[in-house]
Formats: sequence, C-alpha cells, structure tokens
Amino acid sequence: MQIDGKTFLITGGASGLGAGTARILSQAGGHVVIADVDTVHGQEVAAALNGQFVKTDVTRSEDIEECLAVAKSSYGGVHGVVNCAGIGIARRTLSRSGPHPLDLFERVIDVNLIGTFNVVRLSAAAMAQQEAWEDNERGAIVMSASVAAFEGQIGQAAYSASKGGIVGLVLPLARELARFGIRVLAIAPGIFDTPMLGLLPDDARASLGAQMPFPPRLGQPQEFGQLVRHIMENVMLNGTVIRIDGALRMQPQ
Ligand SMILES: NC(=O)c1ccc[n+]([C@@H]2O[C@H](COP(=O)([O-])OP(=O)(O)OC[C@H]3O[C@@H](n4cnc5c(N)ncnc54)[C@H](O)[C@@H]3O)[C@@H](O)[C@H]2O)c1
Repeated sequence: MQIDGKTFLITGGASGLGAGTARILSQAGGHVVIADVDTVHGQEVAAALNGQFVKTDVTRSEDIEECLAVAKSSYGGVHGVVNCAGIGIARRTLSRSGPHPLDLFERVIDVNLIGTFNVVRLSAAAMAQQEAWEDNERGAIVMSASVAAFEGQIGQAAYSASKGGIVGLVLPLARELARFGIRVLAIAPGIFDTPMLGLLPDDARASLGAQMPFPPRLGQPQEFGQLVRHIMENVMLNGTVIRIDGALRMQPQ
C-alpha cells in the first residue's frame, strides 16, 4: 500500500517502538491513531504528529472499538495496524520466594497475546468492510513478537510464552484473512533502546548492545519503524515473522 493518505492504528504508540513507528509512518504521509494506556505520552506523540490519541487498554474490546471509530470518523477508515502494546517481566519459575505467581503469568499473556489478538480481530472486522485498493488489498497488520519467542532466557517464561503465541498466530491469521485482502506479519526485534529497557542501568544496556554481532549497539525505534513501513508498502510480504536483531542469538542468561 502507499503510506501517503492512509491511516494507521498503533497500539503502544505512546512510547518506544510504537512511537518510533508512528513518526516514520507520519513522515511518509500517513495519519496515525495512537492507542495506549499512557495518556500523557500518548497525547504528546499524537499532537506532535497531527494525529489522534485514544486512551486504550488492549485487553478491553470497547477501547479498541473506540479507536476504530475515531479512525473512521477522522480519516475514513484504518488501513494498517501496528501492535506495539506490551509488557515485560523477569521472574523465575522457581525462585527463593517460591513458584512463579500465576497472576503475573496471566497478566503478561493477557496484555501481550490476548490483547494483540483482540486488536487484530476487531481491526480485521473493520478492514474487511472497506474499499480495496491495488491488488485487492484492504489492510495490513503487524504484531510485535520478540527474539525471546525463539531464544527465551532464564526468567522469561511468561514473556517468551506470550511472544511464542504471537509467532503461532501469524500463519493462521494470514491464511484466514487472505480472502479479505488483509495481510498479517510479526516482527521479532532483538534488543532495542526503548523505555522498556531504560529500567536497566547504562552499563547493563551498553553490555547488552556489545553482545550484538553487528552493529554492536542497541537497535533504535526508527529502525523498527522503517521495517514496519516497508512491510506496509510491500504487498508480497505476508504470513511470516521477520527478525530485526543485528544477528543476535540470546544466551540462556
Ligand atoms: N525494546 C525491545 O528491545 C523489544 C524487543 C523485543 C520485543 N519488544 C516488544 O515490542 C513491543 C514494544 O516494546 P517497547 O520496547 O516499545 O516498550 P515500551 O514500554 O517503550 O512501550 C510499550 C507501550 O505499551 C503500552 N501498554 C502497556 N500495556 C498496555 C495495554 N494493556 N494497553 C495499551 N497499551 C499498553 C505502554 O504504556 C507503552 O507505551 C512490546 O510488545 C515488546 O514486548 C521490544
């Protein structure tokens, strides 16, 4: 699809990879709807890009319906969806404080996996109703997986399971939605410099960056955004997971 004049719903768009993607798509002439639980930063990003912000918890269907309604009333529909809302935790399955709390595991699956599916199912319903363009395309959906889907580290059981679930969703979704002209892909980032990582001290971030074969640094949100832009533009990309990781393969810890 041509980005110029199209509309993109970006969950988690208040921060990190989502905000970087919103900037890239907006620079290319796209309209952006930022959907996030973080009102302060969400409004800032949307205002800077002349877009819309909708306070959204991806686990709440009514919030997502509201985003889609805003996209329709402001810009006539939604052509691309980028799922960047997510949370991370580090907790061992067995630690000195006992077994992994089940509610923490459930929360990560709820936001990262069920929340993403919730956005996909409702967005696909909206996209299926709209006019197709070149190649009979009606929309493209990108989900955020992680290299942790493939090389989960110690302490990442919940996070890796949630991202493995995203990898498992890609092909059945792409196959099911093909008849509506909707593409579905996932991106599996390595280690990117975002507020999610910002909780780590500088030396820990530098040491993580140095583990990347090339380039030996953390990824930047705009590099993720550039990949999203290419996915949106290239109609032959569908039903696959693309790693963007500087050849990183995560070690057990
Ligand atoms: N940064 C990395 O190195 C990295 C690597 C692999 C995968 N990822 C994935 O990429 C995605 C974006 O990560 P990031 O690094 O930009 O993180 P981030 O913390 O900077 O941004 C995540 C955003 O999601 C929002 N959010 C959290 N829960 C939400 C909910 N229930 N509903 C709506 N919004 C919610 C947060 O408010 C925040 O703005 C996540 O899914 C993350 O797991 C990140």
